[in-house]
Amino acid sequence: MKNTIKILTAAVVMICVVSCQKDSKPNYQFMPNMYEPLSYETYGDYGIFPGGQEAMLPAEGSIPRGWMPYDFENSQQGYLLAKDTLKNPIRYTKENEDAGKELYDIYCAICHGAKGDGKGPLVQREKILGVPSYDDIGRAITEGSIYHVMYYGINSMGSYASQTNEHERWQIVQYVQKLKADLEGKTPRIDTDVTPTVVETKVKEEHHESTEDHSNAH
Ligand code: HEC
Repeated sequence: MKNTIKILTAAVVMICVVSCQKDSKPNYQFMPNMYEPLSYETYGDYGIFPGGQEAMLPAEGSIPRGWMPYDFENSQQGYLLAKDTLKNPIRYTKENEDAGKELYDIYCAICHGAKGDGKGPLVQREKILGVPSYDDIGRAITEGSIYHVMYYGINSMGSYASQTNEHERWQIVQYVQKLKADLEGKTPRIDTDVTPTVVETKVKEEHHESTEDHSNAH
């Protein structure tokens, strides 16, 4: 008899504890400060903000750090203006060409082909049509037009403005210019006004010699 009462009491206590639980809310909090911060929570609902939401849009005209506004419009006029007047702000160096090649192989070669002849894997498998070769005379692409189409896209080619930053786009431009020159049988442009390529080879030679000395010593 005594045992039955004990068991019943225990059951009632347990039911009381469990019955107050609400799955939609956290249960009894031992140290609520750990769960409920004083500051506003990201994306929280607060009447004090316009629209009642903590997360707000940036003020109009804000410019993200490291991003430069692009002044040419997404229109035929903007395209033509960029084609004629927009110039590569970075120098044509071997390093930029190599960096451009890497990015080109990631983003562009799938359609345009590794050589820029418009015969990438997607074209060969007939997944996309109308990919031009970079030496297409009718298009006569320039560094400005290459940058412009990368920024906004053109017809069935999408924009690359979100995948690449300004510097990377100009590196790709240099590489596309190199592919174009190769296709036309011309020498690709490399700005050699300051870069002392001679010094570089010298350093390598010295290094080479010193390793030789090293091996001779053994
Ligand atoms: C999904 C396939 C695809 C990819 C990827 C692609 N393109 Fe294109 N691209 C095209 C097509 C299609 C055209 C022709 C668009 C038209 O004029 O109708 C084109 C056209 C061009 C032109 C010529 C535009 C002109 O002025 O007539 C250039 C330059 C160019 N692409 C550069 C690039 C570069 C650089 C990348 C990589 C960042 C790239 N494309 C990635 C499909 C692609």
